[in-house]
Amino acid sequence: MRVRRCAIVYLEPREQVEFDLAGLLAGGSGASRWQEWIAHAPHLAAPVTIDEAARECLGRLSAEEWTVDEALAAWPEGALDRLLALGLAIAEDGDQAVADASLRDSHWWGPAAMFHRAGRWAGEDAAAATEAAGLSTAVGLSTHLGVPPAAVVERCDPAHRLALPRGEATDFDELLRRRTTCRNFDLERALPQPLLARMLERVFAAQGQWRMDDDTVFLKKGSPSGGSLHPTEAYLIVQRVEGLAPGLYHYHPLAHALEPLPAPDVPMRDLAMNAVAGQHWFADAPVLVVMAARFGRCFWKYRRHPKAYRAVIMDAGHLSQTLYLGATDLGLGAFVTCAVNEVNIEQALGLDALEEGVVAVCGFGWRGDTMRNAEFDPAGRVWPVPSA
Ligand SMILES: Cc1cc2nc3c(=O)[nH]c(=O)nc-3n(C[C@H](O)[C@H](O)[C@H](O)COP(=O)(O)O)c2cc1C
Repeated sequence: MRVRRCAIVYLEPREQVEFDLAGLLAGGSGASRWQEWIAHAPHLAAPVTIDEAARECLGRLSAEEWTVDEALAAWPEGALDRLLALGLAIAEDGDQAVADASLRDSHWWGPAAMFHRAGRWAGEDAAAATEAAGLSTAVGLSTHLGVPPAAVVERCDPAHRLALPRGEATDFDELLRRRTTCRNFDLERALPQPLLARMLERVFAAQGQWRMDDDTVFLKKGSPSGGSLHPTEAYLIVQRVEGLAPGLYHYHPLAHALEPLPAPDVPMRDLAMNAVAGQHWFADAPVLVVMAARFGRCFWKYRRHPKAYRAVIMDAGHLSQTLYLGATDLGLGAFVTCAVNEVNIEQALGLDALEEGVVAVCGFGWRGDTMRNAEFDPAGRVWPVPSA
């Protein structure tokens, strides 16, 4: 058998602390501390603890060259087997060899792959956790977290500032002023299909293309994209759209068409709630759009590039602002969130996290008449300011 180290792995020396009653009674601090080695690798579902012998073994395995395992005979008993079982060492003919080879070919920059994989959630209820921690209101935030860093920084004496003129507001300025994250969708009112189509056309459709040849095509869209590669795919969680069956769809940006996907095995409402980690104010939207990045499209050009992952994330940010403005212009509410259960969404859509990973979820629809959940509209541009 020939083995090598997995493509990407990082080790963390982590201190563990436990209450130690015996130590306390003997006059100690009451805390017993010890060090563990934690291996983080993007192809693993979770970090794993390794012992010192396995850590040493991992350090000696080449990441590139295959080593014949007889050459490893001198290593402490079982260390290599433990690494193989954990997926940190790869056997040339083992189950993990194909996935490991595909990660090597994917051109991920190692720290970005680890960061991306480590930040994903499964089955989290962020809304309940925020509520339980008392952090769902400004007063709660201030009580539990103290005073925040200042909203504005000042870099010179006010007397030295160069005052700038303010312009006459145009329709575009008015549009920007009305843009507000919607947390109060109308649960009774379905979205007409033409409005869904219009929104998708504005935000995700290709407005043009440039073909170098049949295989090398660049799209033009309403938002900028790093390298003009537009790696962000739009997957729809449709709950209430007139004339469209609730379900999962992929949007085709050139055909401007929906591609129906296999029906999920849970009701759409449950799927939406899980997708946005229990944030019912967003799950209420008639349409949610999962933005998932095809990393390979971006990393084709920016191979193992330290800025490539950042470009992918920024792409989703630009798309979400276009979506907010497009929706506001049409009289719709919109939202974006990255507090999402990526793992569950990827399972529902059949995506591989390192090939096509969920970056954020946005959505849009008719606003409701009453404010059930707080929105940030201090100037009263969306909601009437309550009379004193
Ligand atoms: C990247 C990003 C993530 C966000 N995540 C959440 C979220 O998880 N839950 C939520 O209620 N709002 C979320 N929001 C909306 C912000 O809370 C909102 O933009 C902010 O309160 C300011 O309100 P405004 O958008 O109406 O100006 C997010 C916004 C952005 C840009």
